[in-house]
Amino acid sequence: MPGEQPKLHNLIKLNTNENPYGPSPAVLAALQAEAADSLRLYPDPDSSRLKAAIADYHGLQANQVFVGNGSDEVLAHVFQALLKHDLPLLFPDISYSFYPVYCGLYGIDYQTVPLNDQFEIVIDDYLRPNGGIIFPNPNAPTGIPLPLSAIERLLQANHQSVVVVDEAYVDFGTESAVSLIHRYPNLLVTHTYSKARSLAGLRVGYALGDAALIEALVRVKDSFNSYPIDRFAEAGAIAALQDEAYFQHTRAQVMASRSALVAELTQLGFEVLPSGANFIFARHPEYDGEQLAQGLREQAVIVRHFKKPTRIASFLRITIGKPEAHTALIAALRTLIKATRT
Ligand SMILES: Cc1ncc(COP(=O)(O)O)c(C=O)c1O
Repeated sequence: MPGEQPKLHNLIKLNTNENPYGPSPAVLAALQAEAADSLRLYPDPDSSRLKAAIADYHGLQANQVFVGNGSDEVLAHVFQALLKHDLPLLFPDISYSFYPVYCGLYGIDYQTVPLNDQFEIVIDDYLRPNGGIIFPNPNAPTGIPLPLSAIERLLQANHQSVVVVDEAYVDFGTESAVSLIHRYPNLLVTHTYSKARSLAGLRVGYALGDAALIEALVRVKDSFNSYPIDRFAEAGAIAALQDEAYFQHTRAQVMASRSALVAELTQLGFEVLPSGANFIFARHPEYDGEQLAQGLREQAVIVRHFKKPTRIASFLRITIGKPEAHTALIAALRTLIKATRT
């Protein structure tokens, strides 16, 4: 289940990793321009303009780009088209909760690979026969990033299957694997407009990789829905991509707020895992995670708590918000945590 979208207003909503800043004004203008008579026409089934813009942005060819209705839909096609084999698919035991769901839907055999005691992905543990490998970088919900060198080491050792790096949160300080695509034809990287581009409501995601992988995705997509990206989504996504200054400014603000929040939570006695994402994963050694989440909710601050697996039940996943949201969060936590160190 995704994080809840409560109907109540005036809540401090730090539970679904949305961007606290709105989309670029250029996106809003592009959407308004798109609200026209042309809506009676179907959109471009190939999303060619968007693909060309994405390819150009990443220094790739248009036939190395696949776009879809949010990266969840892109991932669904990836699982169906590329990850169903006799050998099991590998992914971390603590990771994006949709991966086992897609495996269930498409009948894909999988094995989970445990994170180490520091909640890190250990590349050596993936060096065994497999039908594919997928993990987010940074990982979710831990937020911990893997360096590019680790991903390259995996690709050097694993030529026999597709390696998918889900880079939903990559723009918040994690190294992207896109630069490796031209050397490793079995690497597929997925991105989304929902996080750093502030467009979760527009539903645009994409995959980058060798043209043969992209062609396999297109074949599955064409058997499912010829027009996954509507006219608004294509126009808005292109405008977002063109406003580099806004993108750089807002992601820098999110990363600066993340550093400030980590410092404040550490002061309160929290252990915070290193984050390369727009959220942090934190626990307090003396307080129960579920009770803290409930105590925050009673003060109208919503964060995410996972009861399972039990290894992470003590943690809270907190989305990076605006500074005023963090002020409210810290004030609410102070009422719950008596033994402050300040
Ligand atoms: C790791 C990861 N991948 C993919 C997604 C899907 O994002 P979207 O469908 O909004 O592009 C999410 C959303 O939270 C995520 O956490």
